[in-house]
Amino acid sequence: MNAGTFTIGADLQVNRLGFGAMRITGPGIWGPPAEHANALAVLRRSVALDVNLIDTADSYGPDVSEELIAEALHPYPGGVVIATKGGHTRSGPDRWTPNGQPEHLRAALDGSLRRLKLERIDVYQLHRPDPKVPFEESVGVLAELQRAGKIRHVGLSSVSVAQIESARKLVPIVSVQNRFNNATRGGAVFNGVSDDETLAVVDYCTRENIAFFPWGPLAAGKLSSDRISALALRRNVAPHQIALAWLLRRSPVIIPIPGTASIAHLEQNVASAAIELSDDEFASLDVANG
Ligand SMILES: NC(=O)c1ccc[n+]([C@@H]2O[C@H](COP(=O)([O-])OP(=O)(O)OC[C@H]3O[C@@H](n4cnc5c(N)ncnc54)[C@H](OP(=O)(O)O)[C@@H]3O)[C@@H](O)[C@H]2O)c1
Repeated sequence: MNAGTFTIGADLQVNRLGFGAMRITGPGIWGPPAEHANALAVLRRSVALDVNLIDTADSYGPDVSEELIAEALHPYPGGVVIATKGGHTRSGPDRWTPNGQPEHLRAALDGSLRRLKLERIDVYQLHRPDPKVPFEESVGVLAELQRAGKIRHVGLSSVSVAQIESARKLVPIVSVQNRFNNATRGGAVFNGVSDDETLAVVDYCTRENIAFFPWGPLAAGKLSSDRISALALRRNVAPHQIALAWLLRRSPVIIPIPGTASIAHLEQNVASAAIELSDDEFASLDVANG
């Protein structure tokens, strides 16, 4: 709660530090976790710490992350928002294939409803544009499923500003998630979107008041830089906490969703919400300042 709140789609108020439930599966985001009870405990601890936005996808496991969420938390406490995604198939550890075919998305959504034990998904996100399927066709089917009452709000993932704008012609878009952290800049491409494009997306979402869930907020645990380490030392906190505090300060629409299978890391990440960066500290983390 220390990070304040954001209202997704005009009716879902969430605290501005969420939980990414991708890391509670087996290695390579494949199969069950090594410690089932620990995965359940991490999910329950996140909600006990007032995290009320949980990000997942049918492809995490596959199925495993959504099943664990339902086992740990259903019936969901009031105000807990589960944001899931469809649009990928899996063939093994670390292997992901986009599938934005309408029939795949319809079946994927039904699977998520069943596993999460929900009648409607609060935020359903297209996981990634499928280069083999016209983008409007994939988004169009999410609009159709929203009209059918199976989706409350539609979100996107790994998209450009142009794609967000073309999707918004078909359906209101309440959230976007691209890979974004303090090191994001330049031409490096993640899931088809360059870092520079993502910077434009963050500004666009800020202007349009669209929630932005940065994935990889800790660069999968590997985010480090001299400027982050120096400030972490000065503030006597962990570098990852500075990385999350920077995201919270970067834009009021940003809701970080750090992922972890560790209760200690979860607690550390949530505690970042209480770290307020001064103007000078924020400026010191600007990539332009080294
Ligand atoms: N839309 C997409 O295409 C997409 C892609 C990737 C991820 N996501 C979503 O975004 C969420 C976050 O992304 P992510 O999980 O890839 O990356 P991340 O949050 O940047 O990093 C997670 C990794 O960092 C480690 N970690 C977390 N907190 C830590 C801490 N306090 N100290 C040290 N290490 C820590 C975790 O290991 P431990 O388990 O050991 O803590 C984990 O391996 C995912 O869970 C998922 O919900 C979406």
